[in-house]
Amino acid sequence: MNTSRRHFLTRSMLGVAAVAASTSLPSWAFAEELIRTPPQTEGPFYPDHLPLDTDNDLLIINDGITSAVGEVTHLTGKILDATGSPIRNALVEIWQCDANGHYIHSGSSNEDRRDKNFQGFGRFLTGSSGEYYFRTIKPVAYPGRTPHIHFAIKVPREDRFTTQCYIKGEPRNERDMVVRGIRDAKQRESVQVPFEPIKDSKIGELAAKFDVVMGFTPKA
Ligand SMILES: [Fe+2]
Repeated sequence: MNTSRRHFLTRSMLGVAAVAASTSLPSWAFAEELIRTPPQTEGPFYPDHLPLDTDNDLLIINDGITSAVGEVTHLTGKILDATGSPIRNALVEIWQCDANGHYIHSGSSNEDRRDKNFQGFGRFLTGSSGEYYFRTIKPVAYPGRTPHIHFAIKVPREDRFTTQCYIKGEPRNERDMVVRGIRDAKQRESVQVPFEPIKDSKIGELAAKFDVVMGFTPKA
């Protein structure tokens, strides 16, 4: 991807998505105490080979002209420490299956039906606001799992943290073993976020906001 388009995605689209998502503040925003994001399994499909492009736009690979199949979603959020302060220099990685249930992983099923235009994995390094931004697709279910997006977050001098984010109101969440494995009800709720239509979007884009509260305060 060239520099000008990267600039476009990190600046102007972040603004659009942030405005669109601002109506859906997470429940903890009004609570006295932040709810720590629960760690969840990395699962078996963290890419074992990286896609040709690893930027924060998962819909287009490099300078491709064909977009991935799926419901376009602007996924934003902040990486926060245990006190709610933003964390800068957090490397945020996401990965998810394409619209046909295929991961960027040699052990993934549905290789024959793979969406060759879906990047499947992306990275974003946070600035001082702690914000991240990805353009991706709304996650879909695959056998045995409710729709989800995987996250891995690496903060300097801290252990790598993995978790997953889900679609609020998705009935399959209740039966999903990873979701059910989160014992605390508030923590379980905190990883389920609305995927809401962006008003006036002519192509039916969605916005989702998932803040991650880490269990530490960065070392000085
Ligand atoms: Fe998964």
